[in-house]
Amino acid sequence: MKNVIEAKGLKKIYKMSKTNIVHALNGVDLNVEEGEFTAIIGPSGSGKSTLMHIFGLLDKPDEGTLIIDGIDMSDLKDKEAYKLRAKKIGFVFQGFNLIPALSALENIMLAGKYGGMKMSERKQRAIELLKLVGLESRMNHKPNELSGGQQQRVAIARALMNKPAIILADEPTGELDTKTSLEIIELMKKLNREDKQTFLLVTHNMEVAKDCNKIVEMRDGKRVS
Ligand SMILES: Nc1ncnc2c1ncn2[C@@H]1O[C@H](COP(=O)(O)OP(=O)(O)O)[C@@H](O)[C@H]1O
Ligand SMILES: [Mg+2]
Repeated sequence: MKNVIEAKGLKKIYKMSKTNIVHALNGVDLNVEEGEFTAIIGPSGSGKSTLMHIFGLLDKPDEGTLIIDGIDMSDLKDKEAYKLRAKKIGFVFQGFNLIPALSALENIMLAGKYGGMKMSERKQRAIELLKLVGLESRMNHKPNELSGGQQQRVAIARALMNKPAIILADEPTGELDTKTSLEIIELMKKLNREDKQTFLLVTHNMEVAKDCNKIVEMRDGKRVS
């Protein structure tokens, strides 16, 4: 099996002042195989989001190596990282992070633009994805005209737009009620089962974590399992 993520010895330090240094990541190794659905659990402040930001090329580690979809990130220039991020990585955040002035359809199409998709292909693919997440009838709605669960479905469709190697979901149901949360998780599980989409999911919910392929547990910037 191919690894989508190969991380070794990742360290991240935040220097707040000369005496206040936070070791957000303290030597983390992690491999994610293609087609896997991996859950990351751990208390608040244990380094989960820092790890997701590094995997998502939004931030760089201070030490360690990271290979994503076969490409070594160590000496990647910012511009190359930006391109790679748009093409290879889908993000789903707790706060949805849709652009308020754009419709559901336009939010999804914009990801295609960043990923280098031809203009003529963007609309058709975005509509297909809206169908896939069950929101075809809401394509012209702006984010504030959609419920939280619907916004997260749009965010999932946006994350899928460029057929990413992996989708990184950082507490994607943190702002949703229990029923909607389960629907969103079920949608991600379905995409994993049926389309072999690889997921890395940060969750507080042990019920959700326990039927994932792998559970990674973080504590104080380290993996404890
Ligand atoms: N930008 C930052 N500047 C300073 N400290 C940070 C920053 N981001 C995170 N931290 C610190 O790093 C540690 C890990 O944070 P984080 O990765 O957000 O944890 P989690 O997502 O598991 O709650 C925490 O102690 C947090 O306060
Ligand atoms: Mg976090």
